[in-house]
Amino acid sequence: MEMQIKTPSSVLDGIELGIGTWAWGDRLVWGYGNQYSANDVEESFHAAIDNGIRFFDTAEVYGQGKSEKFIGQLLPSINEKVMVATKIMPFPWRLAKNALRKTLAASLKRLGLKKVDLYQMHWPMPPVSVESWMQQMTEVYEEGLISAVGVSNYNLELTKRSVDALQKKGIPLASNQVEYHLLERRIEKDGLLDYCKANGIKVIAYSPLAMGILSGKYTPDNPPKGTRSAHYNKGILEAIQPLIKLMKGIGLDHEGKTASQVALNWVICKGTLAIPGAKNITQVEQNAGAIGWHLTEDEVRKLDESSEAVGKIISRN
Ligand SMILES: NC(=O)c1ccc[n+]([C@@H]2O[C@H](COP(=O)([O-])OP(=O)(O)OC[C@H]3O[C@@H](n4cnc5c(N)ncnc54)[C@H](OP(=O)(O)O)[C@@H]3O)[C@@H](O)[C@H]2O)c1
Repeated sequence: MEMQIKTPSSVLDGIELGIGTWAWGDRLVWGYGNQYSANDVEESFHAAIDNGIRFFDTAEVYGQGKSEKFIGQLLPSINEKVMVATKIMPFPWRLAKNALRKTLAASLKRLGLKKVDLYQMHWPMPPVSVESWMQQMTEVYEEGLISAVGVSNYNLELTKRSVDALQKKGIPLASNQVEYHLLERRIEKDGLLDYCKANGIKVIAYSPLAMGILSGKYTPDNPPKGTRSAHYNKGILEAIQPLIKLMKGIGLDHEGKTASQVALNWVICKGTLAIPGAKNITQVEQNAGAIGWHLTEDEVRKLDESSEAVGKIISRN
């Protein structure tokens, strides 16, 4: 009998915006405990719920488990049904056949859940093959411990191999979570975005604000601190100013939307699910205002062109 494939990406259908929770507990990159506190995380969580956000993205490694723990502690305080997506990091020492099951069990414990809505491979990493990981995903899916399988940072070839491996058991690949924003558009050029769209695989756009850079608040005179400053140096901050100006101008034509909201709406207009991170109520509320409206085709084209031009300057430097 031929295997029936379930409707691809059904669990993520219709979701345009979620919230990324890497910063919730992460000191190293985001400065948790210094710039913002557990109280800010709690307030951000409730602001997300109050503003209609129902998709939370986390990972076992975020804050070494703190991000999942926060979500686990906060979920019982709400009545709304939310979707929780988490990830396994396929560290090279995770060689055992039940490595994924054990890692998932620890995530479920921190999250206080019996099942996660989406379980994602965080990065491709040797030596265990994609096919072996998908086999382990199949097992926990069939046991009802996860509702959908996703991957992250997988290129076109690895995505196709994941689809093939899952297909043998009639399980769809629900998503591929990749970096995608106005300053990172590789997936448009290497065929990944088109492939995912054609095969019902939701692209989850991570760092949709380019780690806050596309908010426009960072300038050559006011660069971000810490590790972000290495990635987005003064030259880049200089080069993106025409794009930021365009985004602000377009925002004004949409009843005063901000650059961040325009950046997120652009990602959504491309058919992907945006998961901006947020450290406080203000950021959550602003990011939630990225949905409920759409940029025009002409505005998307103008942003495409400006981001191409900026990309050329950045790659020359
Ligand atoms: N799968 C992966 O490998 C991977 C990798 C990276 C991220 N992710 C996921 O994607 C999520 C989002 O990515 P990200 O956190 O790297 O970057 P992002 O969403 O592009 O930027 C988030 C940061 O931008 C600033 N910000 C957010 N909203 C703002 C607003 N409205 N106005 C001004 N500043 C604002 C905040 O930092 P400041 O206030 O400090 O500027 C915030 O922490 C993560 O939380 C995680 O869930 C996944």
